[in-house]
Amino acid sequence: MSNNDHSNYTVSLHYDRRLYKYDVAGSMAHVRMLAAQGILPRGDADSIVAGLRQIRNEIENGNFPWRDDLEDIHMNIERRLFDKIGDVAGKLHTARSRNDQVSLDMRLYSKEAVISLVGAVHDLRQVLIDKAVTHAKTIMPGYTHVQRAQPVYFAHHMLAYFSMLGRDRERLLQAQTRADVMPLGSGALAGVPYPIDREMVARELGFADISTNSMDAVSDRDFVLDILSAASTCMVHLSRLAEELVLWSSKEFGFIRLHDDYTTGSSMMPQKRNPDFAELARGKTGRVFGHLFAMLTVMKGLPLTYDRDMQEDKEALFDTVDVLQSTLSVMAGMVSTMELNVDRLREAAEDGNVLATDIADYLVVRGMPFREAHGVVASLSERASSEGKKLHELSLGTYRNHSTLFEKDVLSIDVTTSLEARDVPGGTASGRVASALKAAMSDLEAESD
Ligand code: ARG
Repeated sequence: MSNNDHSNYTVSLHYDRRLYKYDVAGSMAHVRMLAAQGILPRGDADSIVAGLRQIRNEIENGNFPWRDDLEDIHMNIERRLFDKIGDVAGKLHTARSRNDQVSLDMRLYSKEAVISLVGAVHDLRQVLIDKAVTHAKTIMPGYTHVQRAQPVYFAHHMLAYFSMLGRDRERLLQAQTRADVMPLGSGALAGVPYPIDREMVARELGFADISTNSMDAVSDRDFVLDILSAASTCMVHLSRLAEELVLWSSKEFGFIRLHDDYTTGSSMMPQKRNPDFAELARGKTGRVFGHLFAMLTVMKGLPLTYDRDMQEDKEALFDTVDVLQSTLSVMAGMVSTMELNVDRLREAAEDGNVLATDIADYLVVRGMPFREAHGVVASLSERASSEGKKLHELSLGTYRNHSTLFEKDVLSIDVTTSLEARDVPGGTASGRVASALKAAMSDLEAESD
């Protein structure tokens, strides 16, 4: 079946209509500036502003007559302005092009979007701290290669994510400074032949700066790429956390129980509680990466200045912001409501040979080179496993057979001594975790000020 009606191909209205607020605000600021500069009569500017206000109300009340044939939000609003105030509407687009207009709208949107993303990052970080406080003394195995490696406090593990999300916050805020540049006045690409006041527009719209090159201003989407990139890295972190929650909630690990709100049953297997929310957080990460790659690819071949390809930035950015926002909030809900199986975590930390490094360090402290100590402990563990024992269940005699540096106190190495020995900045000893928690709390408080 062939369909030769391609009139919808270029239409962006169904997604760019969410820019309406910014489009209206940008037009109001523009027209006020035109009046202030004597480019438009004050009365004309006033009626344009009044018309735009009515249009904004119509959109917000759901009675705006949307027209697909007008392609995008900018044309829809401008055409509606003619219905409202007649021919004077035609003066709004003086000294402006859709090229600088769409850039302005996207920048205003981006600035607001980042504020709300940063808020959601803050909330998740708060949840991680709360969980860390509750479980400051809960012991769990830390892993490398998904092999039990060394015991850590659960709080230490939560604070690892707190750190990652702190960097995400910085990246998002940096992306925001790139968006915080006012492009109006660039016109289609070369600037405009009117005595405009770009600084006034920037001030009115709350921009930190104005763009310095008109050609760059209308063809730059770096700020979109920056947000997509910061969002992708943040999704990496959320996806890793989601993956851990999936593992931890499995019978194999049995470390946590996710709240019913974040699991679903299986239609066939009544015993199942599937961690669907965590899985989808992990899964949606792929979509966000996709948007970053899509936009890098869209931009890479474009000659200066504006090319219609750039319209593709919208769905990529909007979907990325929506997915990241909801994933941050889902993760916060999931972490705050999950219950830990403290005994199981501790057992896992005590099981196996997680104290091997501590026993090697014991020898090192008594003068043995670390590599040699490593070998001694490797043969001790072989011995232990051949006897079906854990390292700490071996007798002092066995220890001394492997090295005469071992004394009775080797038998008192346990999970707690191991944890508390890691008393370095950034380590898992309880004092270090307590000060990390304090620092984390004051970081968050400073953000709220
Ligand atoms: N809908 C267009 C976009 O998002 C608006 C800019 C159109 N400019 C143009 N010269 N056709 O890119």
